[in-house]
Amino acid sequence: MSDDDFWQDVRRHVIRYGGTFTPEIIDRAEGSYVYTESGRPILDFTSGQMSAILGHSHPDIVATVRRQVGTLDHLFSGMLSRPVVELSRRLAASVEKAAASALLDGSPAGVSALSDGLTAGGTVLLDGSSAGASGLPGASVSGGPLDKVLLLTTGAEANEAAVRMAKLVTGGHEIVSFAKSWHGMTQAAAAATYSAGRKGYGPNAPGNIAIPTPNAYRPDFTTPDGSHDWRRQLDVAFDLVDAQSVGSLAACLVEPILSSGGVIEPPLGYFAALHRKCRERGMLLILDEAQTGLCRTGAWYAFQRDGVVPDILTLSKTLGAGLPLAAVLTSAEIEERAHDRGYLFYTTHVSDPLVAAVGNTVLDVLERDQLDLRAATLGTRLRNGLLDIQRRHPVVADVRGRGLLQGIELKDEGAGADRIGAAVTRRCLELGLHVNVVQLPGMGGTFRIAPPLTSTDEEIDQGLEILDQAIGDTAQH
Ligand SMILES: Cc1ncc(COP(=O)(O)O)c(C=O)c1O
Repeated sequence: MSDDDFWQDVRRHVIRYGGTFTPEIIDRAEGSYVYTESGRPILDFTSGQMSAILGHSHPDIVATVRRQVGTLDHLFSGMLSRPVVELSRRLAASVEKAAASALLDGSPAGVSALSDGLTAGGTVLLDGSSAGASGLPGASVSGGPLDKVLLLTTGAEANEAAVRMAKLVTGGHEIVSFAKSWHGMTQAAAAATYSAGRKGYGPNAPGNIAIPTPNAYRPDFTTPDGSHDWRRQLDVAFDLVDAQSVGSLAACLVEPILSSGGVIEPPLGYFAALHRKCRERGMLLILDEAQTGLCRTGAWYAFQRDGVVPDILTLSKTLGAGLPLAAVLTSAEIEERAHDRGYLFYTTHVSDPLVAAVGNTVLDVLERDQLDLRAATLGTRLRNGLLDIQRRHPVVADVRGRGLLQGIELKDEGAGADRIGAAVTRRCLELGLHVNVVQLPGMGGTFRIAPPLTSTDEEIDQGLEILDQAIGDTAQH
């Protein structure tokens, strides 16, 4: 079949589900590259859909899939197998270890979080009042280590499960999220997603409330010296939450770094303060670490920077390193209460052994190769290279992010940033680099740069050189 026939079939038979398709037929992928049918390598600076942290077709993952699919692939949803229970135990241990190190490291966030009611074991104590702001029974929950794990398939699904649990446990139904959030395309996840896709699909479940995204580059609340006044922003946000609430607040669902929202990293101290707001109201804090979990930011979990352990943690993309695996983690107490109230989240692929085995191998490789440290080192290299690019090209307005999740924002000059963003993306592809630009109202185009954690120094440098050339070529025209 010719290329023309292929694209004709695409036009005839493929539903357009968002954005435009990359104008290349991809034939295979290995390591940090995807290869077109003609054999042209393209450096994958999006790790597939921000997931393939071990690159493509990592030999250990290939071996696990081959072995596992030939022995135990999929089961009746009520049956358990060793890979599932092993992964549950190991994930709980990894979060506990991360929480302990975050709380003991003496960082400003750690200290404020400690004085904020967290213990070195990662225990989160809610205020113990009988009902929080919702005024309903059952809204007060004391937390604990996130020992309980539910293994699912996608990020949206994990958030769906987390929100259902929070509603059941608190007795509330109102969910608060950032105005530039992305939590997925299923009902509760989409209802808490504000960065795109809200218009035209009819009513959402009532009770979803947006708060402003704390964005230091575009501060909407400033101190007298002009810097970002996130404390006042958060206070005003929760004044508005309280004003809108019908007395049924259940949870805050937030990303530690908003990726699809333009790689926005809330300032240090923000999540401790947000956690306090939740606790005052008997709400649970759900952190969505779809993109930031499993070493991407240079630490096992992004919450480590903030010294804040959530009540519920959702993991997805990076957990399966490109295969469909997601997890919900919570404390034994929250799980117990949910179970007592008949918690139901029964899906076809819950507790599937094939992807659970993959998850175990992902943990093996991350631990063995110390990819948290590698992501921190490579992230510094990437960041320095991006700052160099910013110095050379005035069109680059801001460089931000953490570890191997970085963003560069182009100057917002009306439709200019959109045009340049699209042109740079096209030029990068011609030169052999895949990057993704997010275009949101009120912001310039932001490139999301998230190479695999297994990238070599040379691959990072190659990507930076291409990006530099593409911006230069495009800005001149
Ligand atoms: C932070 C975050 N949460 C959830 C999702 C949804 O994950 P999925 O597409 O696997 O449902 C995404 C996807 O981009 C995401 O970035």
